[in-house]
Amino acid sequence: MSASHTLFDAIGGEPAVRAIVEAFYPKVQEHELLSPLFPEDITPVMEKQFLFLTQFFGGPQLYSDQYGHPMMRARHMPFPIDKQRAEAWLDCMRRALQETDIPPELQAMLLERLSGPAHHFINTDQHEEA
Ligand code: HEM
Repeated sequence: MSASHTLFDAIGGEPAVRAIVEAFYPKVQEHELLSPLFPEDITPVMEKQFLFLTQFFGGPQLYSDQYGHPMMRARHMPFPIDKQRAEAWLDCMRRALQETDIPPELQAMLLERLSGPAHHFINTDQHEEA
């Protein structure tokens, strides 16, 4: 990561996070396991994810400034998330990252950082029929 202090700096800051989010949500919306969970108007979700990932990767605390403590597992409790959905989310993210200019070794670090939370958000054994 050379002289950069955070993963956020290393990937190129806000424009890079924006690019990740913009590549990610179309994949979520096309995914048969994930799309039923999300609202038709994905724009507000994209904005929140931009704020959250900025702070999660070590940038400014944009999400907390607007929404308070992230409590992300709790915020995901209304949605049935099983292992398959967690893996699907991570796979959409992996493919989204490949579409960005972020170097592969940093892509791997980002995925690694997201893998913990994704599995931590699992809250059911089986996904319910949508
Ligand atoms: C494990 C698989 C995951 C699934 C199935 C999932 C699904 C969802 C859904 C359905 C929403 C609500 C959309 C709405 O507003 O109606 C949401 C919100 C959100 N998710 Fe996830 N998510 C997953 C993992 C993650 C991970 C790993 C992160 C980041 C570490 C994350 C960050 C967020 C954020 C920031 C929001 C917006 C929270 C808010 O309302 O303020 N999600 N997610």
